[in-house]
Amino acid sequence: MRVLVGGGTGFVGRTLTQLLQSRGHDVTVISRQPGKNRITWEDLSRMGLPPCDGAVNLSGENVLNPFRRWNESFRQEVVDSRVKPTEILAKAIAEAEHPPRAWVLVTGVGYYKPSNTSRYTEDSPGGDFDFFSRLVTRWEAAAKIPEGRTRQVVVRSGVVLGKDGGAVAQMLWPFRLGLGGPIASGRQPFPWIHVVDLAGIVTHALEKEGVTGILNGVSPTAVITTNGDFARAMGSALQRPALLPLPGFAVSAIFGPERSVMLLEGQRVEPKRTLETNYRFAFPDLPSALHDILA
Ligand SMILES: NC(=O)c1ccc[n+]([C@@H]2O[C@H](COP(=O)([O-])OP(=O)(O)OC[C@H]3O[C@@H](n4cnc5c(N)ncnc54)[C@H](OP(=O)(O)O)[C@@H]3O)[C@@H](O)[C@H]2O)c1
Repeated sequence: MRVLVGGGTGFVGRTLTQLLQSRGHDVTVISRQPGKNRITWEDLSRMGLPPCDGAVNLSGENVLNPFRRWNESFRQEVVDSRVKPTEILAKAIAEAEHPPRAWVLVTGVGYYKPSNTSRYTEDSPGGDFDFFSRLVTRWEAAAKIPEGRTRQVVVRSGVVLGKDGGAVAQMLWPFRLGLGGPIASGRQPFPWIHVVDLAGIVTHALEKEGVTGILNGVSPTAVITTNGDFARAMGSALQRPALLPLPGFAVSAIFGPERSVMLLEGQRVEPKRTLETNYRFAFPDLPSALHDILA
């Protein structure tokens, strides 16, 4: 398969590219920067869709960039870096003479309302109660193409755990120094997935005829995992204590109240449809995932 991967230079995109290539697929990345085996978003807007059998979009500014203040201009960048590339790719697919067989967008479980008690599947309502849920609604709407020619899949991802980026990279040093611990009470849900499984679900969606619609990109045990469980598992994998809680007010001070929802609250999400499509998770439980990542 020839696969176009928007945002393929990033944390998830690098693992996805490796996985696709290891399965014999050709990957062309869509990026802001030109380079080998890449096209730019401008190329795509100007020249239309190059010949391809599958398309994926993973682009987006890192919301939890601790060096960026959560103000109106950063908020707009977070939205535009997701919605605009998605619109460009969807338009190119819709207008292509030879459209791809599958089009996969990765969004987030921020679609569902944070709650310590509610459990969500792909059929649960959401998408209209805070900045993140409304962002996911706009982002997924931007991906819509007329039905019929191309199978469309949206993977709503949880917190992605992997070696070279994401949450583990941001938290590794405090934990290594024995200064790690839960965030606030630690009772908030922690909807996580190993990066290998997120790349695996995207690949499964590209390859398997008949997979369509929303798939939750979280591990099967994420529905019972809390932030405290994650802290304990990190401590145990690194053989360090993980007892020092990071107070909620400190998180709010660093990230701002609106953005800190992502750390202070969470969603209990099940990958119901993902499992029904017969995707087999490589890392269904947290200790094995963190052992693989931190070994
Ligand atoms: N990581 C997670 O825990 C997580 C959780 C849920 C959902 N997701 C979603 O999954 C997707 C992939 O995540 P990731 O962690 O791999 O993302 P990432 O590495 O932070 O970024 C992916 C790519 O997006 C492009 N990008 C970054 N900032 C941009 C900006 N300001 N404007 C336009 N493009 C920009 C970059 O590509 P170029 O520099 O090549 O243009 C980058 O390589 C994202 O859409 C993210 O929202 C991630």
